[in-house]
Amino acid sequence: MRVYSFRFGCVLAAACFVSLTWIKSMPSDEEVQPHLQTLYERLVVAEELGWQVSRDLSNILEQLRNISKPANITSNITSTANTTTMTTTLLATIRESRLGSGQQAFLQPNIYIYMPHLRQHPDSLKPNVVLGQGRRGVSIVMGIPTVKRENKSYLVSTLGSLLYSLTSSQRQDLLIIVFVAETDSDYVGSVSETIRRNYPNEVQSGLVEVVSPSQYYYPDFTSLKETFGDSKDRVKWRTKQNLDFSFLMLYAQDKGTYYVQLEDDIVAKAGYYNDMKTYTTHEASKQWLYLEFSQLGFIGKMFRTSDLPMVVEFFLMFHRDKPVDWLLDHILWVKVCNPEKDAKHCNEQKALLKQRYKPSLFQHVGLHSSLPGKLQQLKDKDFGKQALYQAHSNPAAKVSSSLKHYQQHSLDRAYKGVDFFWALTPIKNDYILFKFLQPIRISGYLFRSGNIETSGDRLHNTTVEVLSSNAAARDKLKQDLSPESNNSFIIIGAFENGVAEGEIAEELQPISELRLVVHSDADVWALLSEILIKV
Ligand SMILES: *[C@@H]1O[C@H](CO)[C@@H](O)[C@H](O)[C@H]1NC(C)=O
Ligand SMILES: *[C@@H]1O[C@H](CO)[C@@H](O)[C@H](O)[C@H]1NC(C)=O
Ligand SMILES: *[C@@H]1O[C@H](CO)[C@@H](O)[C@H](O)[C@H]1NC(C)=O
Ligand SMILES: *[C@@H]1O[C@H](CO)[C@@H](O)[C@H](O)[C@H]1NC(C)=O
Ligand SMILES: *[C@@H]1O[C@H](CO)[C@@H](O)[C@H](O)[C@H]1NC(C)=O
Ligand SMILES: *[C@@H]1O[C@H](CO)[C@@H](O)[C@H](O)[C@H]1NC(C)=O
Ligand SMILES: *[C@@H]1O[C@H](CO)[C@@H](O)[C@H](O)[C@H]1NC(C)=O
Repeated sequence: MRVYSFRFGCVLAAACFVSLTWIKSMPSDEEVQPHLQTLYERLVVAEELGWQVSRDLSNILEQLRNISKPANITSNITSTANTTTMTTTLLATIRESRLGSGQQAFLQPNIYIYMPHLRQHPDSLKPNVVLGQGRRGVSIVMGIPTVKRENKSYLVSTLGSLLYSLTSSQRQDLLIIVFVAETDSDYVGSVSETIRRNYPNEVQSGLVEVVSPSQYYYPDFTSLKETFGDSKDRVKWRTKQNLDFSFLMLYAQDKGTYYVQLEDDIVAKAGYYNDMKTYTTHEASKQWLYLEFSQLGFIGKMFRTSDLPMVVEFFLMFHRDKPVDWLLDHILWVKVCNPEKDAKHCNEQKALLKQRYKPSLFQHVGLHSSLPGKLQQLKDKDFGKQALYQAHSNPAAKVSSSLKHYQQHSLDRAYKGVDFFWALTPIKNDYILFKFLQPIRISGYLFRSGNIETSGDRLHNTTVEVLSSNAAARDKLKQDLSPESNNSFIIIGAFENGVAEGEIAEELQPISELRLVVHSDADVWALLSEILIKV
């Protein structure tokens, strides 16, 4: 800065010198000597002016710094006198600031222009990371905004559906951010506790994060203008949604390569991760702004994280004016539509900036919108049907259960491979029994509970037991009998993470009955999506 100011002063002084010399040299060459003194005096004045200008510039810079507080500004100005560049560079070099507790507040320089109230508190842009291990550098970041709902929450099953079909390598290359867009810390705490209880491993590994905004983030919503015939509540709801999406995107922006926005009441298609990744690789060189993996609202919209600051800036600029899906469309309009051409031309141009993937990978399941009282029975017609069970042809058996099945999802149909079995909440000692028509040799078994749409309805604390028709084997294995088994059944396996899989030892053959026994009261229903008895 000093060097630059000095240079600037010199340039200014030299300019004065040249112009003065030129004026003075006009009348007569002989009068040069007496004028030198005056010239020198003027030069001193000019130099003083130069310093004055430089001091003013310093002052402006300092003001800029103060304006951008609470950002920690790293000014990186090496260019010559170009104040436009200077301001831009200054703002561009503002990135993140480290605040007290070590948590980072992200910075969107102009956010203070659109939301001046943020300047009143240094923590207003500091995300409250309730659960998270700081995971970064993944291929895909998925953001799920959620708000307090008066009616049923689907958040846990939405997460279950997203996690259900992931392989272990996919789990390492993904980040799922649940953004609880509420400032009530008790509520935020209860959501994060629910998630931690249901998905302890995913939270532990950093795959699932729970984040909420600072209590100073939201403006006073009472002074909003009602537009487009929307009621006051609706204007508040859509304005807050703009701010919620913006906060979430800013938080997600530096955590991976692509960002996908979802909602808290959806189901995913099995294998969605691979489908998204393959399509993204395929489309990587094209000029899209977003890819659509669902045709509904903001569900399944994928952005490059490098585009998020621009998208967020646009949302923030007009957050009071329009709903977020209109704003997203307007970005495309602004970018490529020519006002002198017709709507057809505009639509063609916009279509180049968004590529739609079919079939849709996410389906909306919620009935109630987050706007109280609004019903939202939207369904994505391109989602199609997906397999909710895996059929196998099993040996003939008489099946029975102490569990009461729901609707048509009976054990009999599941065993035949035409449905899944879905039963009301099991209690201790409930069982599912397969009685073979005659003793047979069974090499192994596989039972999978839950499915991609109802991944939470798993069997817990449930054992797999067989009744051997080989009397010698029963006597030999007597010491292995657990107290829960009665004298005839032998425990050969148990459900772990919703799946029971194993082989059956040769000395137990042939088998006359096989059963699943629940050992403690469950708090969810039970769903069996795969029954395989290998003969
Ligand atoms: C900038 O802030 C500092 C301390 O906060 C203050 O001393 C200084 O006067 C401010 N400068 C201007 C130009 O407002
Ligand atoms: C700004 O951040 C840098 C590096 O993060 C740190 O060294 C410096 O002390 C910070 N300055 C202020 C004023 O916080
Ligand atoms: C300053 O900017 C130049 C060019 O824009 C860059 O090469 C350099 O790394 C920057 N320095 C800092 C400290 O950010
Ligand atoms: C200032 O810098 C910008 C960006 O580098 C450039 O486009 C513009 O022409 C410069 N203006 C002047 C007067 O040099
Ligand atoms: C909650 O669900 C009930 C029954 O479907 C409905 O009558 C009520 O309006 C819903 N409440 C909200 C806030 O949507
Ligand atoms: C052992 O279990 C089978 C199958 O549930 C049942 O029929 C039988 O009565 C049980 N025996 C005893 C002694 O509890
Ligand atoms: C499984 O059930 C047994 C018997 O009711 C109980 O003692 C045990 O704590 C249960 N285990 C789990 C993990 O719930």
